[in-house]
Amino acid sequence: MRNPETILEVDDLRVYYATPQGDVKACDGVSFDLRSGEILGLVGESGSGKSTATGGVLRTIGSPGRIVSGTVTLDGEDILKYDDEKMRQTRWQKLSLIPQGAMNSLNPTMTISDQIADVIETHEGRQPADALRERIMTLFRRVGLPERIYSMYPHELSGGMKQRACIAMSIALDPLVIVADEATSALDVVVQRVVAQTMLKIKRELNVSFIMIGHDMGLMAQVVDRLAVMYSGQLLEIAAVRDMFARPAHPYSEILIESVPTLTERKPMKINEGITHDPRNPPSGCIFRLRCPHAMPVCSESRPDMVEVHPEQLVACHLWKKDENGSYVRQSV
Ligand SMILES: Nc1ncnc2c1ncn2[C@@H]1O[C@H](COP(=O)(O)OP(=O)(O)OP(=O)(O)O)[C@@H](O)[C@H]1O
Ligand code: SF4
Ligand SMILES: [Mg+2]
Repeated sequence: MRNPETILEVDDLRVYYATPQGDVKACDGVSFDLRSGEILGLVGESGSGKSTATGGVLRTIGSPGRIVSGTVTLDGEDILKYDDEKMRQTRWQKLSLIPQGAMNSLNPTMTISDQIADVIETHEGRQPADALRERIMTLFRRVGLPERIYSMYPHELSGGMKQRACIAMSIALDPLVIVADEATSALDVVVQRVVAQTMLKIKRELNVSFIMIGHDMGLMAQVVDRLAVMYSGQLLEIAAVRDMFARPAHPYSEILIESVPTLTERKPMKINEGITHDPRNPPSGCIFRLRCPHAMPVCSESRPDMVEVHPEQLVACHLWKKDENGSYVRQSV
């Protein structure tokens, strides 16, 4: 049964890209929920399918990609069934996106305020000038931007300010859910934190839910409520961020967390960088088995189901088996 606080539920979503050598299953049976007022972090290395999975949710996948199957239930309705016009209305108003590289995709020939006004008037029609100006100023205040940027162009702003302008735009129509795709990645560490803090503030003040895509596990640990780990088109684990850091259940999450640098310990990476298989020709069974230090014969035979091994901690790995009491226990190999 659906959790009453669930605002978005993604079930068995499949998004494939056609290539002459066959389909790339960039999102291959991904399921997760997003609760009201939470930040869900989505991590995974480059090419793991984070943008594709969220592009499936927002229906922004263009050719040669296609949504093959699945459901995306937003506020009780399957938006994959919406026609294009209904989906156009839903974007920004209910579901908005801060796209990967957003600050570089701002229109250089328009002021920041004109770009935000455009979003508002496209959806709500022409607005009285004074009311529109006040509304944009309120958005600026919410994201910590000074009023003086009202008449400025993108090139006059720093990277952090541009990113905050993108956040202001994403909340212009008071959406339920915001997908922030690598919103902090191209920024230096101090500005990254400021932008992440801005998202936290927005979440608290507007009770909006975020899917925050990123690479930086350290930053994620400080900002998100739950963390979902993706690898080559599949979700491997999803759990509260504290639980995941305290007792990662999937071997890949374990490696990601062990690799977070600390001041006191210099830890080498325990795994080679990069997805090792050709995405058009994934291994049989578990998608992670070619890099897994614990791979067993069963791992090449069947894809592990996602199971709840601790309350609210779901993992897809054959190491977890039910004992005689029906509780999941991790086998040692
Ligand atoms: N237009 C396309 N045609 C073919 N394959 C594609 C296309 N776009 C993405 N892919 C493939 O889909 C997979 C997932 O890509 P995606 O961009 O979703 O990953 P990501 O996790 O967002 O990576 P990054 O961290 O680099 O942004 C990759 O193997 C990628 O090569
Ligand atoms: S299912 Fe097997 S190969 Fe996959 S992560 Fe678990 S132990 Fe490793
Ligand atoms: Mg991406």
